[in-house]
Amino acid sequence: MSKSISASVSSKRIQEICCLTKVIPVLSVDRIEDSIPLGQALVDGGLKVLEVTLRTKNALSVINEMSKIDGAFVGVGTLLSEKDVQDAVESGAQFGVSPGITSSIINACEKEGLPLLAGVSTVSEAMQMLERGYETLKFFPAEVSGGVNALKAIAGPLPEVKFCPTGGVNHNNAENYLLQKNVVCVGGSWMAPQDMIEKKEWSTIRSMAETASKIGSK
Ligand code: 3PG
Repeated sequence: MSKSISASVSSKRIQEICCLTKVIPVLSVDRIEDSIPLGQALVDGGLKVLEVTLRTKNALSVINEMSKIDGAFVGVGTLLSEKDVQDAVESGAQFGVSPGITSSIINACEKEGLPLLAGVSTVSEAMQMLERGYETLKFFPAEVSGGVNALKAIAGPLPEVKFCPTGGVNHNNAENYLLQKNVVCVGGSWMAPQDMIEKKEWSTIRSMAETASKIGSK
């Protein structure tokens, strides 16, 4: 049986995944041994949708380990190539996130059946994705691309497009993003920064996740 999915199925699944949470932790994890305690701290803190970026040599093993946590919904971030998509699917990633849009990544995700949260930072890119059938997109890099004001402006001509702003989102500005009618959730690393992961500060990460999980209850 083919595992491929259409653009509209991919878009619908991503929308459902984004609706599971208000905040998606964006994680860079070097040590495989940190996968379970880190993932568990985030899930216990109320954040169950997790993005593990492909920015470390062990990222694929981390995805595989973290996916074993009860209640965790683990996706892969920083998809840059078709091979990244294939590797991530083999490691058990349940959704994919890319910083930008390329045909090869979109095609590979559809072929591998990996729902894609594709990154856009302009109206033209959002229009290209809409034309392909994708209505839920990542707005990246959010803060330096105009932040909340840009999202307000995009909502005028493209009201059907919903965003997960990521990049420069933190505990101070997340709520304002979440108040926007075209924002479904936000992504960010503020509740699990790399230095805290390196120092294994699981209880602090858990309590920061708890605070983050309460942002923007609307
Ligand atoms: C990233 O590029 O690492 C993500 O967008 C997260 O960005 P942040 O560290 O600014 O939250």
